[in-house]
Amino acid sequence: MNVLILGSGGREHAFAWKIAQSKKLENLYIAPGNAGTAHCGTNVNISATDFDAVKNLVWEKGIDLVLVGPEDPLVKGIHDYFLADDVLKDIPVIGPKKDGAQLEGSKDFSKQFMIKHGVPTARYASFDKTNLEEGYKFLESLKPPFVLKADGLAAGKGVLILNDINEAKAELKAMISDAKFGAASAKVVIEEFLHGIELSVFVLTDGKSYKLLPSAKDYKRIGEGDTGLNTGGMGAVSPVPFADEAFLKKVEEKIVKPTIAGLNKEGIDYRGFIFIGLMNDNGEPSVIEYNCRMGDPETEVVIPRIKSDLLELLEAVGKQELDKTSFELDSRIATTVMMVAGGYPEEYEKGHEVSGLDQVKESIAFHAGTKQEGNKVLTNGGRLIAVTSFGYTIQEAVNKSFSSAEKITYTNKYYRRDIGKDLMKN
Ligand code: AMP
Ligand code: GLY
Repeated sequence: MNVLILGSGGREHAFAWKIAQSKKLENLYIAPGNAGTAHCGTNVNISATDFDAVKNLVWEKGIDLVLVGPEDPLVKGIHDYFLADDVLKDIPVIGPKKDGAQLEGSKDFSKQFMIKHGVPTARYASFDKTNLEEGYKFLESLKPPFVLKADGLAAGKGVLILNDINEAKAELKAMISDAKFGAASAKVVIEEFLHGIELSVFVLTDGKSYKLLPSAKDYKRIGEGDTGLNTGGMGAVSPVPFADEAFLKKVEEKIVKPTIAGLNKEGIDYRGFIFIGLMNDNGEPSVIEYNCRMGDPETEVVIPRIKSDLLELLEAVGKQELDKTSFELDSRIATTVMMVAGGYPEEYEKGHEVSGLDQVKESIAFHAGTKQEGNKVLTNGGRLIAVTSFGYTIQEAVNKSFSSAEKITYTNKYYRRDIGKDLMKN
C-alpha cells in the first residue's frame, strides 16, 4: 500500500516509524513531515490544510490510505473533501469527518454530546454575547476554582482555570466581548472543577467496533513538579499505573461504549482515533475532553507499545472490519521525555544544529520541531525531540530516556527531569 501521513510533529514521526515496519507498506509519504520522518519515507513540503495540494499528491503518488495526524485538517473537513470528490472518494481517510471532529472542534458540542449520551462529565453551561449576564450568575453558583473554556479550537490555550470570582467574570467578558481567543471564544463553556488525577485513554474505531489502546499520562507544564506555563506536553508514560484493570473496565463501560453508541445514534460515521482526557476521582472516571486525533506526546508512548501491524489495523478501519483484526500489546512500560527549545512555550529561537542523535542507542528519538538542511538537523519549533524508551519499571524506562537526552545537544537545551516521578510511588 502507498500511505500518506499528514502532519509534522512527534506524533507523526511515531506513526511513520510504526507504519514503515508494516509488511503491507510499499511507499510512505509524510506531508510536511520533519527531519525524523524523512528516514521513514518521503517528506513532501505541502501543508496538511491545503486540501487541493493534498489531492494532487494523492493522485500523483497513487495513495491508498491517508492518516491525518492533527485536528486542524479534520475540523476543517478534509475527510468530507475526500468524500465529495470523485477521484478521492474511495480512498480511506483515517480521522473523522467534520461532524465527528466537532467532539474536539466545539467544546459546547462535546459537552452536549456527553450529557445526552450519559457519559460522566463536569456540570456545565454555555454562554455567548446574548447571555453574558447569566454567565456571571452561573459563575456565582459554582465553587472555585472556575473553569472557562473557549468553545472553538484555540491551539490548546483556550482553557482558563481561575480561583477568584471577579477575575473569572473579567475573563469571561474578555473571551466573549473582546475576542480573547478570536472567534473561538465567541461562545464559552463554564464548568465545574473536577478533582483527581488526569490520564488519557485512546480508542481506534471504524464506526462499528473499536479497540481500546493503551492509557497514557502526559506532563503538560513546562516546569518540574508541574509548575509554570502549559505546553503541548513535556513527556508521557504508558501504561498509567493507577489505571488498573478495574478502572479501565469502568472507563470502557461508562465512557467508551456510550461514546461509540452515541456517535451511532447521532448518525456520525466516525473512523479514526478518539482521545479521551479523563479525571480519575477516587476510582470514578469522568471526561474532561475529547480530541478527534491521537495525543502528542502520548502517541510516542502508545504506538511503540502496539505489537500488531498498525497499517493492517488502519486498513481495517477504512473497510469497517476492525472487529476481524487482532490487537497485541507490549507489556513493558514506555516513557517519553520531550526535549524543547530554551524559552518554550514563550519566545524561542530556531535554526540551531542538533547533534548526538547517532549516539542514541537504547531509546527512539522521535523528531517533532526539526528540519533537515543538507546533512544537518536543525531546530525548527518549540518541542524538538521526544525520547522514548522501554523498561519493566517506569524508573528503568525513564532513566534510559534521560541518558539518551544527555547525548543529544543543541543550544539552550531543556527537558523535564521528573517525568514519571509522581507515578513511581504507586
Ligand atoms: P482541555 O483543553 O479541555 O483538556 O483542558 C486543559 C486542561 O485544563 C486539562 O488537561 C485539565 O488539566 C484542565 N481542566 C479542564 N477542565 C477541567 C475541569 N473541569 N476540572 C479540572 N481541570 C480541568
Ligand atoms: N498532549 C495533549 C494533546 O495532544 O492534546
